[in-house]
Amino acid sequence: MTSPVYYVDGRFVPADQATLPLGDLAIMRGYGIFDFLRTYRRVPFKLREHVLRLYSSAEQIGLAMPWSVGEVEAIVHETNDRNGYDDAAIRIVVTGGPSPDLMMPGQQPRLAVMAEPISTPPERQYAQGVGVTTTRMARILPTVKSLNYLGAILAVVEARKIGAVEAIYRTPDDHVTEGTRSNLFIFRGGKLLTPESGILPGITRQVVLEVAAREYPVVLTDLTYADLLGADEVFITSTTKEIVPVVKVDGQVVGGGRPGECTQDLMERFKAYVDRCLTEAVA
Ligand code: PDD
Repeated sequence: MTSPVYYVDGRFVPADQATLPLGDLAIMRGYGIFDFLRTYRRVPFKLREHVLRLYSSAEQIGLAMPWSVGEVEAIVHETNDRNGYDDAAIRIVVTGGPSPDLMMPGQQPRLAVMAEPISTPPERQYAQGVGVTTTRMARILPTVKSLNYLGAILAVVEARKIGAVEAIYRTPDDHVTEGTRSNLFIFRGGKLLTPESGILPGITRQVVLEVAAREYPVVLTDLTYADLLGADEVFITSTTKEIVPVVKVDGQVVGGGRPGECTQDLMERFKAYVDRCLTEAVA
């Protein structure tokens, strides 16, 4: 397979020749942000929402964004077109750029856009559900999609050791907020519940809330670890996962140990929503 083409700091280059200077604040200090979206049959899904979240992340960490929304979107489209994958994973990265003392941000952030064929979870995860763990790690600035996934990586490495696919952040007062790369939902008594704050506002989460609101009462509220263990159904959402049912938390069976009916209903509704978006995009 030929190497993907990336956009880096003003140029399109083969992925294996895409580089950043070592002095960039993203490399030296983890000062930078990104966003991550996918295409369905070559059409970027919720591109505007992802780009706006990128700007929100930048603003929250005081990172300059010298490009317009339209320019960023055009670069995403061109990267997508040059690669031509049916279903692509697209990463938009903004790094802190050069800094004279390797600490204070300058005004020359760097923009990169990467595209790869998307890798989605195996079918059995949707059919049988997955296990997750919980972690006492915390994300700093949880509403920012920053390049720092240090705690996330440590937590997921631990989770994989016991066959779990994701780790859920658990606060000192025993609230569960979101996964390292996903948002968290439960069904309880026919209602859909998900945390409102202290999380990354997931784009998949937003779509799920939209499709669910037509069918179920939706409650945005803090969730405790006990809520999670006692839930009728649990699932996680993300761009690559869409909706994945959760059947085990820290090795304990939840939700009867199999994907719940309401979760499966939402999985169908999510797919139908994507199909409608694609039909509208080509119409
Ligand atoms: N992660 N919460 C965190 C901390 C995330 O990193 C992500 C996404 C989500 C879900 O957001 P969305 O539905 O917009 O994908 C929630 C991406 C997939 C990643 O880091 O690869």
